[in-house]
Amino acid sequence: MDLTKGDKEFVWHPYTQMRDWTKWNNRVIVKGDGFYLVDSIGRKYLDGSASMWCNVWGHTHNKVVQAMIEQLKEVPHCTLFGLANAPSTMLAEILVRLARGMHKVFYTDNGSTAIEVAMKIAVQYWHNKGKHQKKDFISLEHGYHGDTIGAMSLGYIENFFRAYRPLLLDVHRVPSPLLYGSKFTNESDLVECCLEKTESTLKRHKDRCAALIMESGAQIAGGAIIFPTGYQRKIAKLCRDYDVLLILDEIATGFGRLGNIIEYIAQNSQPDIVCFGKALTGGYFPLAVTLVTHCIFDAFLGKYRYNKHLYHGHTFTGHPVGCAAALANIENYQNRNLTQQIKVSTEYIASRLPEFSKSPIVADIRHKGLLVGIELAKNNKPLLTLKNKEITNYFIMQQSLKMGVYQRPLGNIMLLIPPLGITKTDLEKLVNVQLKLLRKMEKLS
Ligand SMILES: Cc1ncc(COP(=O)(O)O)c(C=O)c1O
Repeated sequence: MDLTKGDKEFVWHPYTQMRDWTKWNNRVIVKGDGFYLVDSIGRKYLDGSASMWCNVWGHTHNKVVQAMIEQLKEVPHCTLFGLANAPSTMLAEILVRLARGMHKVFYTDNGSTAIEVAMKIAVQYWHNKGKHQKKDFISLEHGYHGDTIGAMSLGYIENFFRAYRPLLLDVHRVPSPLLYGSKFTNESDLVECCLEKTESTLKRHKDRCAALIMESGAQIAGGAIIFPTGYQRKIAKLCRDYDVLLILDEIATGFGRLGNIIEYIAQNSQPDIVCFGKALTGGYFPLAVTLVTHCIFDAFLGKYRYNKHLYHGHTFTGHPVGCAAALANIENYQNRNLTQQIKVSTEYIASRLPEFSKSPIVADIRHKGLLVGIELAKNNKPLLTLKNKEITNYFIMQQSLKMGVYQRPLGNIMLLIPPLGITKTDLEKLVNVQLKLLRKMEKLS
């Protein structure tokens, strides 16, 4: 097969206008090399978006990959329906130890389904307790929780999901604390206003609401919106006060993205249900988890005929190879002191950001850990197209590839989301290429 011509004939790519695809993309990745991806004609690209925000250790052989190989030799797949398997049993114990206050682990195979499970658990929890009317959800504006029907309903982003509106559930929305573009000049007034609106929504709908769901620490897909200190803790308290469950989505932010392994612990905001995915396996296997407290779990116990158990399961639930990957990955975090390395990389990024903020087209920079969002604007309007009529988004992706970096911005927002274990040299290259791109766009704005 000739891989140099790209895969234009047969593959339908996600979030991609396929008419444009063949015009500019003929890259087929055939191998990894450190934090680089190598295509079929030997061109190398630094993975500047951690392969959709999940890569930790790069793209070559390492201890996590080795653990997966060993597991494949032992037992390549075995169902969790009616049987347990060793890696999923061991991983659950470790997750429960890491995620303070959580007691049981439900396995799925991607972030979106981990959210669907969280929704079903929340609704059935109240159902099992006889409160059948508590079935609505509250979520944040700019939230994103995945692409399945329930997850889209919760995380509605107008631009992404407009066409699917007829399929989606009605959800109560509360504001997200984004200072840029708001009427506020300081964060504390903004947070106060967001909390007041959240509280009034909770007060109004508490008898019908099963849960409030939010990303933990930051919203990434909604525009790299970083939550001000104390905000999430106060939301957790409001949920407790109004007897509405709190579901935290740590799929993109947990396991180190914002500098903490478990973000809700750093935010001092205990959830009832929490989801992890992406970096959990180092990005090597489609595995996600939904963790719950004893209190939630116990509501599902009872005589078989009472039908209280959770009716959910996937063919690949608790896949032993994925669980072996996650076990080795977590061990590697500890052995290689990854949180310290993330801290050093975070400081390096912070030291370079003033070079971006001087630009006349940079309107706002939002940074925490290994997440940076750089909002581009001209005359107070989002810079969505350039003078040469190119869409900013496409321009950044294509030009980055030409400079040897794989990037995925969000509209007019440049994103830096490197693999969590990235080396100093590679991080420097990533930042330098972004700066060069910014200078090009200044001329085209
Ligand atoms: C916060 C958040 N939740 C859920 C998801 C969905 O995860 P997946 O793409 O694995 O279905 C994502 C994906 O980007 C996400 O960022």
